[in-house]
Amino acid sequence: MSANRPQTILGIETSCDECSAAVIEHRDNMNQVKSLVTHSQIEIHQTFGGVVPEVASRNHLQTIVPMIDQAIRQAGIQATDLNGIAVTNRPGLVGALLVGVNCAKTLAYALGLPLIPIHHLEGHIASLFIDRDPQDFTYPMMVAVVSGGHTNLHLVEGPPSSWGPEFLKESLVAYSIDDAAGEAFDKTAKALGLDYPGGRQIDEHSEGGNPRAFDFPRPMTKGGNPNFSFSGLKTAVAFKVREVREEQGHENIEGQLLKDLCASIQAAIVDVLTLKLKQAAQEYACRSIGIVGGVSANRLFRARLHEEFSIPNFTAAREYCTDNAAMIAAAGVFRHEQSLRPSSEEFFLINALASAEF
Ligand code: KG4
Ligand code: ZN
Repeated sequence: MSANRPQTILGIETSCDECSAAVIEHRDNMNQVKSLVTHSQIEIHQTFGGVVPEVASRNHLQTIVPMIDQAIRQAGIQATDLNGIAVTNRPGLVGALLVGVNCAKTLAYALGLPLIPIHHLEGHIASLFIDRDPQDFTYPMMVAVVSGGHTNLHLVEGPPSSWGPEFLKESLVAYSIDDAAGEAFDKTAKALGLDYPGGRQIDEHSEGGNPRAFDFPRPMTKGGNPNFSFSGLKTAVAFKVREVREEQGHENIEGQLLKDLCASIQAAIVDVLTLKLKQAAQEYACRSIGIVGGVSANRLFRARLHEEFSIPNFTAAREYCTDNAAMIAAAGVFRHEQSLRPSSEEFFLINALASAEF
Protein backbone atom coordinates (compact mmCIF):
# COMPACT_ATOMS: atom_id res chain seq x y z
CA MET A 1 0.00 0.00 0.00
CA SER A 2 1.37 3.43 -0.89
CA ALA A 3 2.07 5.49 2.24
CA ASN A 4 0.78 8.60 0.51
CA ARG A 5 -2.52 7.28 -0.77
CA PRO A 6 -5.34 8.50 1.54
CA GLN A 7 -7.08 5.73 3.45
CA THR A 8 -10.56 5.93 4.90
CA ILE A 9 -11.27 3.62 7.81
CA LEU A 10 -14.51 3.01 9.71
CA GLY A 11 -14.05 2.32 13.42
CA ILE A 12 -16.56 0.51 15.64
CA GLU A 13 -16.44 0.35 19.45
CA THR A 14 -18.92 -1.58 21.61
CA SER A 15 -16.75 -3.14 24.33
CA CYS A 16 -18.65 -1.66 27.29
CA ASP A 17 -21.34 0.99 27.60
CA GLU A 18 -20.54 3.27 24.65
CA CYS A 19 -21.84 2.40 21.19
CA SER A 20 -19.62 4.35 18.85
CA ALA A 21 -18.77 4.60 15.15
CA ALA A 22 -16.26 6.91 13.46
CA VAL A 23 -14.65 7.55 10.13
CA ILE A 24 -10.99 8.55 9.97
CA GLU A 25 -9.15 9.70 6.93
CA HIS A 26 -5.43 9.04 6.89
CA ARG A 27 -3.60 11.42 4.63
CA ASP A 28 0.01 12.71 4.71
CA ASN A 29 0.73 10.77 7.94
CA MET A 30 -2.16 12.45 9.76
CA ASN A 31 -5.34 10.83 11.08
CA GLN A 32 -8.21 13.22 10.61
CA VAL A 33 -11.55 12.46 12.22
CA LYS A 34 -14.25 12.92 9.56
CA SER A 35 -17.05 11.84 11.90
CA LEU A 36 -17.55 10.44 15.38
CA VAL A 37 -20.95 9.44 16.75
CA THR A 38 -21.38 7.86 20.15
CA HIS A 39 -24.46 6.66 21.94
CA SER A 40 -23.64 6.56 25.63
CA GLN A 41 -25.64 4.18 27.82
CA ILE A 42 -24.57 5.92 31.03
CA GLU A 43 -28.07 7.11 31.90
CA ILE A 44 -29.47 3.60 31.46
CA HIS A 45 -26.86 1.99 33.73
CA GLN A 46 -26.93 4.79 36.33
CA THR A 47 -30.14 3.33 37.73
CA PHE A 48 -28.18 0.17 38.59
CA GLY A 49 -25.04 1.94 39.89
CA GLY A 50 -22.84 0.27 37.26
CA VAL A 51 -22.87 -1.44 33.86
CA VAL A 52 -25.28 -4.38 33.52
CA PRO A 53 -23.80 -6.56 30.73
CA GLU A 54 -27.06 -7.96 29.31
CA VAL A 55 -28.63 -4.49 29.24
CA ALA A 56 -25.53 -3.16 27.49
CA SER A 57 -25.61 -5.82 24.74
CA ARG A 58 -29.31 -5.33 24.07
CA ASN A 59 -28.86 -1.59 23.80
CA HIS A 60 -25.89 -1.97 21.44
CA LEU A 61 -28.08 -4.14 19.21
CA GLN A 62 -30.56 -1.30 18.90
CA THR A 63 -28.07 1.50 18.30
CA ILE A 64 -25.16 0.02 16.33
CA VAL A 65 -26.68 0.23 12.83
CA PRO A 66 -27.93 3.84 13.19
CA MET A 67 -24.52 4.83 14.65
CA ILE A 68 -22.64 3.40 11.66
CA ASP A 69 -25.10 4.90 9.20
CA GLN A 70 -24.76 8.31 10.83
CA ALA A 71 -20.95 8.14 10.96
CA ILE A 72 -20.74 7.37 7.24
CA ARG A 73 -23.23 10.12 6.33
CA GLN A 74 -21.56 12.73 8.55
CA ALA A 75 -18.20 11.92 6.98
CA GLY A 76 -19.77 12.81 3.62
CA ILE A 77 -18.86 9.48 2.07
CA GLN A 78 -20.52 6.27 0.87
CA ALA A 79 -19.84 2.91 2.48
CA THR A 80 -18.14 1.90 -0.77
CA ASP A 81 -15.51 4.66 -0.25
CA LEU A 82 -14.14 2.87 2.81
CA ASN A 83 -10.79 1.06 2.69
CA GLY A 84 -11.23 -1.04 5.82
CA ILE A 85 -13.29 -1.67 8.94
CA ALA A 86 -11.65 -1.62 12.36
CA VAL A 87 -13.48 -3.03 15.35
CA THR A 88 -12.68 -3.55 19.03
CA ASN A 89 -12.70 -7.32 19.45
CA ARG A 90 -11.01 -7.54 22.87
CA PRO A 91 -11.19 -7.18 25.85
CA GLY A 92 -14.59 -6.22 27.22
CA LEU A 93 -18.07 -7.51 27.95
CA VAL A 94 -18.41 -10.44 25.61
CA GLY A 95 -22.05 -9.84 24.64
CA ALA A 96 -21.31 -6.18 23.95
CA LEU A 97 -18.20 -7.00 21.89
CA LEU A 98 -20.13 -9.58 19.87
CA VAL A 99 -22.54 -6.93 18.63
CA GLY A 100 -19.76 -4.74 17.22
CA VAL A 101 -17.66 -7.60 15.88
CA ASN A 102 -20.51 -9.27 14.03
CA CYS A 103 -21.71 -5.99 12.58
CA ALA A 104 -18.16 -5.16 11.39
CA LYS A 105 -17.72 -8.67 10.00
CA THR A 106 -20.96 -8.53 8.05
CA LEU A 107 -20.15 -5.11 6.61
CA ALA A 108 -16.58 -6.08 5.72
CA TYR A 109 -17.78 -9.26 4.01
CA ALA A 110 -20.56 -7.51 2.12
CA LEU A 111 -18.31 -4.67 0.95
CA GLY A 112 -15.27 -6.89 0.32
CA LEU A 113 -13.16 -4.86 2.75
CA PRO A 114 -10.42 -5.86 5.17
CA LEU A 115 -11.62 -6.46 8.73
CA ILE A 116 -9.15 -5.09 11.27
CA PRO A 117 -9.56 -6.48 14.82
CA ILE A 118 -8.28 -4.01 17.43
CA HIS A 119 -7.33 -4.48 21.08
CA HIS A 120 -9.19 -1.81 23.06
CA LEU A 121 -6.01 -0.64 24.86
CA GLU A 122 -4.13 -0.28 21.59
CA GLY A 123 -7.03 1.93 20.52
CA HIS A 124 -6.57 4.09 23.62
CA ILE A 125 -2.85 4.50 22.88
CA ALA A 126 -3.65 5.33 19.24
CA SER A 127 -5.85 8.22 20.48
CA LEU A 128 -2.61 10.18 21.04
CA PHE A 129 -1.99 10.10 17.29
CA ILE A 130 -5.31 11.58 16.21
CA ASP A 131 -4.65 14.89 14.41
CA ARG A 132 -0.90 14.48 15.01
CA ASP A 133 1.92 13.10 12.91
CA PRO A 134 3.51 10.14 14.80
CA GLN A 135 6.91 11.23 13.45
CA ASP A 136 6.63 14.46 15.46
CA PHE A 137 6.77 12.55 18.77
CA THR A 138 10.03 11.86 20.58
CA TYR A 139 10.61 8.25 21.53
CA PRO A 140 10.83 6.31 23.73
CA MET A 141 7.57 7.56 25.20
CA MET A 142 6.11 6.28 28.48
CA VAL A 143 2.34 6.01 28.09
CA ALA A 144 -0.06 5.56 31.01
CA VAL A 145 -3.25 3.75 29.94
CA VAL A 146 -5.68 4.71 32.67
CA SER A 147 -9.25 3.48 32.24
CA GLY A 148 -12.04 1.82 34.17
CA GLY A 149 -10.45 -1.61 33.77
CA HIS A 150 -6.71 -0.92 33.43
CA THR A 151 -3.88 1.12 34.87
CA ASN A 152 -0.84 0.22 32.78
CA LEU A 153 2.42 1.83 31.83
CA HIS A 154 3.62 1.03 28.31
CA LEU A 155 7.07 1.82 26.96
CA VAL A 156 6.37 2.98 23.40
CA GLU A 157 9.68 2.80 21.56
CA GLY A 158 8.59 4.10 18.18
CA PRO A 159 5.67 5.31 16.05
CA PRO A 160 2.69 2.98 15.50
CA SER A 161 4.11 1.89 12.13
CA SER A 162 6.85 0.09 14.11
CA TRP A 163 4.50 -1.73 16.52
CA GLY A 164 4.62 -5.49 16.15
CA PRO A 165 1.71 -7.90 16.69
CA GLU A 166 2.79 -8.35 20.34
CA PHE A 167 3.17 -4.62 20.96
CA LEU A 168 0.97 -4.43 24.06
CA LYS A 169 2.62 -7.40 25.74
CA GLU A 170 6.16 -6.35 24.89
CA SER A 171 5.71 -2.71 25.90
CA LEU A 172 4.06 -3.35 29.29
CA VAL A 173 6.24 -2.18 32.19
CA ALA A 174 3.68 -1.75 35.01
CA TYR A 175 0.07 -2.60 35.83
CA SER A 176 -2.38 -2.55 38.71
CA ILE A 177 -2.24 -5.55 41.00
CA ASP A 178 -5.86 -4.96 42.07
CA ASP A 179 -8.30 -2.15 41.19
CA ALA A 180 -7.72 0.17 38.24
CA ALA A 181 -7.55 3.93 38.84
CA GLY A 182 -10.90 4.44 37.08
CA GLU A 183 -12.41 1.76 39.29
CA ALA A 184 -11.04 3.60 42.34
CA PHE A 185 -12.77 6.78 41.14
CA ASP A 186 -16.01 4.89 40.45
CA LYS A 187 -16.10 2.96 43.74
CA THR A 188 -15.18 5.89 45.98
CA ALA A 189 -17.76 8.05 44.19
CA LYS A 190 -20.36 5.36 44.86
CA ALA A 191 -19.39 5.35 48.56
CA LEU A 192 -20.05 9.11 48.58
CA GLY A 193 -23.47 8.58 47.01
CA LEU A 194 -22.49 10.00 43.61
CA ASP A 195 -23.73 8.65 40.28
CA TYR A 196 -21.93 6.19 38.00
CA PRO A 197 -19.43 6.72 36.39
CA GLY A 198 -17.76 8.38 39.34
CA GLY A 199 -14.60 9.76 37.74
CA ARG A 200 -16.23 12.72 36.08
CA GLN A 201 -18.39 13.35 39.17
CA ILE A 202 -15.35 13.47 41.46
CA ASP A 203 -13.54 15.69 38.96
CA GLU A 204 -16.47 18.15 38.93
CA HIS A 205 -17.19 18.09 42.68
CA SER A 206 -13.47 18.66 43.44
CA GLU A 207 -13.79 22.22 42.24
CA GLY A 208 -13.46 24.50 45.26
CA GLY A 209 -12.50 21.55 47.48
CA ASN A 210 -9.37 21.32 49.64
CA PRO A 211 -7.16 18.46 48.39
CA ARG A 212 -5.39 18.34 51.77
CA ALA A 213 -8.56 18.17 53.89
CA PHE A 214 -8.31 14.36 54.15
CA ASP A 215 -5.02 12.51 54.11
CA PHE A 216 -5.81 9.42 52.01
CA PRO A 217 -3.09 6.82 51.33
CA ARG A 218 -0.91 6.89 48.19
CA PRO A 219 -0.46 3.10 47.89
CA MET A 220 2.79 1.58 46.62
CA THR A 221 4.56 4.88 46.09
CA LYS A 222 7.52 3.84 48.23
CA GLY A 223 9.84 0.90 47.74
CA GLY A 224 10.47 1.07 44.01
CA ASN A 225 7.78 -1.37 42.82
CA PRO A 226 6.53 0.13 39.51
CA ASN A 227 3.05 -1.45 39.76
CA PHE A 228 -0.13 0.18 41.04
CA SER A 229 -2.59 -0.72 43.80
CA PHE A 230 -5.78 1.18 44.54
CA SER A 231 -7.84 -1.18 46.70
CA GLY A 232 -6.33 0.21 49.96
CA LEU A 233 -7.36 3.72 49.00
CA LYS A 234 -10.88 2.52 48.27
CA THR A 235 -11.10 0.93 51.73
CA ALA A 236 -9.64 4.02 53.45
CA VAL A 237 -12.27 6.19 51.75
CA ALA A 238 -15.08 3.77 52.72
CA PHE A 239 -14.01 3.95 56.41
CA LYS A 240 -13.73 7.75 56.35
CA VAL A 241 -17.16 8.10 54.73
CA ARG A 242 -18.71 5.88 57.39
CA GLU A 243 -17.02 7.95 60.13
CA VAL A 244 -18.24 11.21 58.58
CA ARG A 245 -21.80 9.90 58.34
CA GLU A 246 -21.77 8.79 61.98
CA GLU A 247 -20.38 12.16 63.10
CA GLN A 248 -22.97 14.20 61.21
CA GLY A 249 -25.81 11.82 62.11
CA HIS A 250 -27.23 11.50 58.59
CA GLU A 251 -26.33 9.85 55.26
CA ASN A 252 -26.18 12.83 52.90
CA ILE A 253 -22.71 14.13 52.16
CA GLU A 254 -22.93 17.50 50.48
CA GLY A 255 -21.61 21.07 50.28
CA GLN A 256 -18.00 21.86 51.22
CA LEU A 257 -17.56 18.47 52.88
CA LEU A 258 -18.36 16.67 49.62
CA LYS A 259 -16.00 18.96 47.73
CA ASP A 260 -13.18 18.37 50.23
CA LEU A 261 -13.65 14.60 50.12
CA CYS A 262 -13.69 14.58 46.31
CA ALA A 263 -10.65 16.85 46.05
CA SER A 264 -8.74 14.69 48.54
CA ILE A 265 -9.61 11.42 46.74
CA GLN A 266 -8.69 12.92 43.37
CA ALA A 267 -5.39 14.28 44.74
CA ALA A 268 -4.44 10.83 46.11
CA ILE A 269 -5.15 9.03 42.80
CA VAL A 270 -3.50 11.69 40.65
CA ASP A 271 -0.44 11.83 42.96
CA VAL A 272 0.09 8.08 42.56
CA LEU A 273 -0.36 8.17 38.78
CA THR A 274 1.94 11.18 38.29
CA LEU A 275 4.66 9.89 40.60
CA LYS A 276 4.80 6.42 39.06
CA LEU A 277 4.71 7.79 35.55
CA LYS A 278 7.63 10.06 36.43
CA GLN A 279 9.67 7.25 38.01
CA ALA A 280 9.10 4.92 35.04
CA ALA A 281 9.89 7.65 32.50
CA GLN A 282 13.17 8.33 34.32
CA GLU A 283 14.08 4.67 34.64
CA TYR A 284 13.62 4.04 30.92
CA ALA A 285 15.20 7.37 29.88
CA CYS A 286 12.03 8.40 28.06
CA ARG A 287 12.02 11.47 25.87
CA SER A 288 8.27 12.05 26.14
CA ILE A 289 5.22 10.85 28.05
CA GLY A 290 1.55 10.40 27.27
CA ILE A 291 -1.67 9.62 29.14
CA VAL A 292 -4.72 7.94 27.60
CA GLY A 293 -8.00 6.31 28.68
CA GLY A 294 -11.04 7.68 30.49
CA VAL A 295 -9.08 8.91 33.54
CA SER A 296 -6.80 10.97 31.28
CA ALA A 297 -9.82 13.29 30.85
CA ASN A 298 -9.34 14.27 34.51
CA ARG A 299 -8.54 17.98 34.71
CA LEU A 300 -6.12 17.76 37.65
CA PHE A 301 -4.22 14.87 36.02
CA ARG A 302 -3.87 16.82 32.79
CA ALA A 303 -2.74 19.96 34.63
CA ARG A 304 -0.19 18.08 36.73
CA LEU A 305 1.30 16.56 33.61
CA HIS A 306 2.03 19.95 32.15
CA GLU A 307 3.33 21.29 35.49
CA GLU A 308 5.57 18.43 36.47
CA PHE A 309 7.20 17.10 33.33
CA SER A 310 9.95 18.95 31.54
CA ILE A 311 9.92 16.46 28.63
CA PRO A 312 7.15 16.76 25.98
CA ASN A 313 3.87 15.38 27.29
CA PHE A 314 0.85 14.35 25.27
CA THR A 315 -2.84 13.95 25.98
CA ALA A 316 -5.66 13.26 23.56
CA ALA A 317 -8.50 15.79 23.20
CA ARG A 318 -10.95 15.00 26.03
CA GLU A 319 -13.57 13.55 23.65
CA TYR A 320 -11.00 10.92 22.59
CA CYS A 321 -10.07 9.93 26.18
CA THR A 322 -13.20 8.02 27.15
CA ASP A 323 -14.31 5.12 24.95
CA ASN A 324 -14.89 6.15 21.36
CA ALA A 325 -14.59 4.70 17.88
CA ALA A 326 -12.20 7.36 16.52
CA MET A 327 -9.33 5.82 18.50
CA ILE A 328 -10.26 2.37 17.15
CA ALA A 329 -10.27 3.71 13.59
CA ALA A 330 -6.89 5.39 14.27
CA ALA A 331 -5.39 2.09 15.47
CA GLY A 332 -7.04 0.45 12.45
CA VAL A 333 -5.21 2.83 10.12
CA PHE A 334 -1.84 1.75 11.49
CA ARG A 335 -2.62 -1.95 11.47
CA HIS A 336 -4.04 -1.66 7.96
CA GLU A 337 -0.90 0.16 6.82
CA GLN A 338 1.23 -2.66 8.16
CA SER A 339 -1.07 -5.21 6.55
CA LEU A 340 -1.25 -6.87 9.94
CA ARG A 341 -4.78 -7.81 9.04
CA PRO A 342 -6.12 -11.31 8.80
CA SER A 343 -6.04 -13.43 5.70
CA SER A 344 -9.40 -14.48 4.26
CA GLU A 345 -9.22 -17.84 6.08
CA GLU A 346 -8.60 -16.07 9.38
CA PHE A 347 -11.44 -13.65 8.70
CA PHE A 348 -14.03 -16.21 9.74
CA LEU A 349 -12.11 -16.96 12.91
CA ILE A 350 -12.11 -13.38 14.17
CA ASN A 351 -14.35 -13.24 17.16
CA ALA A 352 -15.05 -11.29 20.29
CA LEU A 353 -12.60 -12.13 23.06
CA ALA A 354 -13.56 -11.16 26.59
CA SER A 355 -10.13 -11.97 28.04
CA ALA A 356 -8.00 -9.03 29.16
CA GLU A 357 -4.81 -10.81 28.07
CA PHE A 358 -2.78 -9.22 25.30
O1 KG4 B 1 -11.52 4.35 28.93
P1 KG4 B 1 -12.87 4.40 29.54
O2 KG4 B 1 -13.88 5.33 28.93
O3 KG4 B 1 -13.52 2.98 29.60
C1 KG4 B 1 -12.76 1.82 29.88
O4 KG4 B 1 -12.06 1.35 28.99
O5 KG4 B 1 -12.85 1.40 31.06
O6 KG4 B 1 -12.66 4.79 31.08
C2 KG4 B 1 -13.75 4.89 31.95
C3 KG4 B 1 -13.22 5.36 33.27
C4 KG4 B 1 -14.30 5.32 34.35
O7 KG4 B 1 -13.77 4.68 35.48
C5 KG4 B 1 -14.56 6.79 34.60
O8 KG4 B 1 -14.96 7.06 35.93
C6 KG4 B 1 -13.21 7.41 34.29
O9 KG4 B 1 -12.76 6.70 33.17
N1 KG4 B 1 -13.30 8.84 33.99
C7 KG4 B 1 -12.71 9.80 34.73
C8 KG4 B 1 -13.07 11.03 34.15
N2 KG4 B 1 -13.86 10.78 33.06
C9 KG4 B 1 -13.98 9.43 32.98
N3 KG4 B 1 -11.94 9.71 35.83
C10 KG4 B 1 -11.52 10.87 36.37
N4 KG4 B 1 -11.82 12.09 35.89
C11 KG4 B 1 -12.58 12.22 34.78
N5 KG4 B 1 -12.88 13.44 34.30
ZN1 ZN C 1 -11.59 2.27 27.37
